[in-house]
Amino acid sequence: MVALPFMFRAESQAGEHTKRRLPRTAAELGKMLFSEPLLSLDRSISCASCHKPEFAFADTMAFSLGVNGQRSTRNTPSAMNLAGHFPFFYDGRAATLEEQALGPIANPVEMALPVDSAVERLNRDAFYRKAFQKIFHSPATAQNLGTALAAFERTLNTNAPWDKYMNGGDSLAVSEAVLRGREIFNNKAKCFDCHKGVDFTTDEFRNIGLYNGKNLNDRGRFDITGDSADLGKFKTPGLRNVSVTGPYMHNGMFATLREVIDYYNDPQQFVPDAVNTDSLIQPLFLNERQKTDLEAFLRSLTHEQFVHRR
Ligand code: HEC
Ligand code: HEC
Repeated sequence: MVALPFMFRAESQAGEHTKRRLPRTAAELGKMLFSEPLLSLDRSISCASCHKPEFAFADTMAFSLGVNGQRSTRNTPSAMNLAGHFPFFYDGRAATLEEQALGPIANPVEMALPVDSAVERLNRDAFYRKAFQKIFHSPATAQNLGTALAAFERTLNTNAPWDKYMNGGDSLAVSEAVLRGREIFNNKAKCFDCHKGVDFTTDEFRNIGLYNGKNLNDRGRFDITGDSADLGKFKTPGLRNVSVTGPYMHNGMFATLREVIDYYNDPQQFVPDAVNTDSLIQPLFLNERQKTDLEAFLRSLTHEQFVHRR
């Protein structure tokens, strides 16, 4: 198994400051901060509480738990493979990773700590005082806190058997089923029209039919733009490691990849009264084997370190 820089080791856990080695780079500092509960009101929650490294920095619950057991209002997406993409959050409310990183600290249902207080705590902590001086030649500020977290996140890039096949020319890296699934993904099922590029996303906001204004009432992008054309649109997520990031969608309504495929195959059966759905979202009439092949393709996007979790 390939050792990757993003996995946390026990000795790098917070609270062991005396033994901790000072970070050498902003990304190393960001990695420490990512698993640092000091950044939450009651010192119980870190970024890694919801973005669990062993599940490709996503959560296994539909809604993650923040400070005082409060529930987040959306499903926690993977924080991997975001370098080169923007904007962030399902509704695109943060333009950069730096800006994004401060959001959850202050968010009352996540870490619930005003960013100024987080910065104050870092500057009162002997280890972090030294660490920020070393990396930024300055005390901690909101800005360099965001810079460090974002620098770490930009290191979280994965590759998968699919890449070995596509880029490395390794024709044995994937099965025949994966190749058939890819063909369905690109053509018959039109997944590729929205999920394309190296990380399988166009970064666009699209409505795939999960908004009806009733039981499905997250308006998504509309809440940021106020434009009725944006009702029910969400940022198209990348699909790397998608086999370990369930449950799926902004509201975690599908537990398995098979359910996601069943949804796309016949959306109306799940949400008959959807509003403002994209014209690409049409019944696909896939048979059992085609569904299985499509799933095999999605699974081939899993980094080998996560394969055992599938
Ligand atoms: C209580 C759970 C929780 C905690 C703690 C948390 N997050 Fe998140 N994170 C979420 C949820 C839920 C979303 C999606 C919210 C939305 O789209 O409105 C999210 C979204 C993100 C995104 C955007 C991903 C994308 O594709 O747009 C990034 C990056 C991220 N979080 C990083 C962090 C960092 C860095 C921290 C720590 C400072 C953190 N998160 C703390 C739950 C959490
Ligand atoms: C019209 C654009 C569009 C098309 C076509 C499309 N998707 Fe999506 N996909 C999205 C958007 C937008 C979301 C996020 C929706 C949400 O969270 O409510 C999404 C979410 C997903 C997710 C969940 C990811 C996660 O982390 O929760 C998977 C898996 C997925 N799509 C696979 C597919 C497959 C397979 C196909 C083809 C059968 C497909 N998509 C077709 C836009 C599209």
